[in-house]
Parts: sequence; C-alpha cells; structure tokens
Amino acid sequence: MNNYYGRIIGYGKALPRNIVTNADLEKKVDTSDEWITERTGIRQRHIVSDDEHCSTLAVGASRAAMNVAGIGPSDLDLIIVATSSPDFLTPPVSSQIQHMLGASTIGAFTVVVGCTGFVTSLIMADRFIRAGGYRNILVIGVEIISRMLDWEDRNTCVLFGDGAAAVVVQRTDERSGVLSHVMGSDGAGAQHIIHPSGGSALPPSHETIDNRDVYIKMNGREVFRFAVPVIGNTLQQIVTEAGLTFDDIDLLIPHQANARIIESAAKLTAFPEDRIFVNVHNYGNTSAASVPIALTEAFEQGRVKKGDTVAMIAFGAGLTWAGAVVKL
Ligand code: UT7
Repeated sequence: MNNYYGRIIGYGKALPRNIVTNADLEKKVDTSDEWITERTGIRQRHIVSDDEHCSTLAVGASRAAMNVAGIGPSDLDLIIVATSSPDFLTPPVSSQIQHMLGASTIGAFTVVVGCTGFVTSLIMADRFIRAGGYRNILVIGVEIISRMLDWEDRNTCVLFGDGAAAVVVQRTDERSGVLSHVMGSDGAGAQHIIHPSGGSALPPSHETIDNRDVYIKMNGREVFRFAVPVIGNTLQQIVTEAGLTFDDIDLLIPHQANARIIESAAKLTAFPEDRIFVNVHNYGNTSAASVPIALTEAFEQGRVKKGDTVAMIAFGAGLTWAGAVVKL
C-alpha cells in the first residue's frame, strides 16, 4: 500500500486585459452601480476581447502555475480542465490546451459541472495521485461566460466575469492535499441555471436565436436560496470528516458568486468572516475559475502558505456542489 498525497505546489491566474466596471454596464442595460454593489458586492469584472479564448487564458494560467511549481510541460502526466465555456463543444478544450502547452501526449479531459468544476477536479487529481501512477497533475479552472451571456438581460449579465487559474498537484510522501471532501448534485434544480441551446437538445435555429435560448438563463433568487445552506452544510461536513474544528481552518475559500451569499453562509455557520477570502468585487462570478483565482490570490497576498489548512466550497449549475478540506 503506498502513502502518496497530492500537494498543491504551484498556482497562477490569467485574466482578460479588458475591465468592465458597473458604470460601463449602466450604459448597456437598465441597471445601476448602486444596485449591483448592494446586491452582489461586484464592482468590476474582466471580459475577454476578440483574441482571447478559453484555451489561451487557460494556457496563461497554466504557465504561471508551472512557473511557481518549478516544472515544465514535459513533467506533467495529466491535465484536468474545469469549464462550461470551452472554445468548442468538440474538440475538448483540454486537448487544445495540452497541445498549446507543448505537453507530451498525456491524458487530458474536461470536467463540466458549472461553478463546481474546479473543486471537483481538484478532488479527482488528489485521488488519481493517491491511487499511484501520477506525479504532476495540472488542474485548471477557466471560464469565458461573457460569450454565453445575454447582454440585454440585466438579471445575468451584470453578475459574471471571465478568467482562468490553475494549480499543479504533485505527489509527495508528506501528509497534505485533500483531507476530506463532499460532492453533491440535485438535478431537480436543473432549470435554475440553464443554457438551453448550448447542447444537443435544442440545436441552433432561427427560433432559438429569436427566443434568446442561445444564452444562459438563471433564476438568481432560487440559486441564492440553495447556495447559503449548501455552503454551511458542506463546510460542517468536510471539517467534521477531516476530524477538525472551525478553529483549525486557516482560510475558507468559497465560490465567489455574490458577497451576500458568502456573508449569509458565514452567519449561518458562525464561521469568522476574517478567515473567509472574498474577491468577488474585482472579478464577478467567474464560475469554475472563481475558487482557483481566489486560492492564487490568497497565496500571492500571504493569506495562506505551505502547511496551512484551507476549506474550498463551490456550488452551481446542476444544481451541484463540492467542498474539500485541503492541507497546503
Ligand atoms: O455561481 C452560481 C450562479 N448563480 C448565482 O450565484 C446567483 C445567485 N443569486 C444572486 O446572486 C442574487 O439572487 C441576484 C444578485 C441574482 C439577485 O439578487 P436578489 O436580492 O435575489 O434580487 P431579486 O432577484 O429579488 O430581484 C430584485 C429586483 C427585481 O425587481 P422587482 O421584480 O423586485 O421589481 C429585479 O428585476 O431587482 C431587479 N434586478 C435588477 N435591478 C437593477 C435584477 N437585476 C437587476 C440589475 N439592475 N442588474
């Protein structure tokens, strides 16, 4: 029996160069800086330009993460990409990224569970390493939601942003990596976040364009109602399963969808707000990229370091959720 653990040894992010403020959005849709700030905490978001794509942002974040890790593409033996906004539905963007990075013909696959994707992928990477056979796994969270948004729908377009971040998970003998985890899904809530004409059920037609089915539709109020207890329950479960208490968690990194969701979950669980990482004001909801962007910034700002214990929790389309206690 081996005793392998998967430690995060590299992290990095890549954001589109163009920043869109709430004031910019006031000129596009019937909204206000005041409404967006009060209801969500969001002040700005990065939005891709024509020459920026899911694949290119992912490659930028991956190179940054490998740089911190001190490894090159030839050291990788698996690439896992969490995204719901790949360059194309076919081919998988994970293979595009593998080729663009110059990695050898290693395995690469895409995980599609909305905003929950990165935490799910990190859990998978950890389990692959523990099982043996893998040394360096690149895990990427990347999203170009802006190209799937209805820029005439103020209920959705003000909430999201584009971005990417990646981590390198490396095999080690030292106890680290995912100490406990939870993954959940409840398809009964599928209609609350849906991209109706994004797959095979409703192929593109004049009608789908006229009905605006080619864009993401969301029932924000229902997602809010679902998210708050899910964060609380998941946090409780993963901390207990790891044999820890809230005092042992150096930093909670929740999915950055809305500052009010995070505040409400903190109140519900009595988790101290000064140990919760929040950066939604700068990026909006970057879906599968939000937790790794936050983790990267937590490292960069010295909020976490090697040896710390963090809890990561995400929720989103499906509906789905995932949480993990991770020793860095
Ligand atoms: O990663 C998971 C993906 N999804 C989410 O995380 C979304 C979770 N949900 C939320 O963040 C919040 O529910 C929202 C920010 C989407 C909405 O906040 P809320 O406090 O739940 O507002 P509401 O849905 O109750 O809407 C309040 C009002 C409505 O007007 P009426 O019907 O009360 O007259 C909306 O039409 O605010 C209106 N509204 C806006 N007004 C100005 C909705 N969007 C906007 C807007 N600007 N952009």
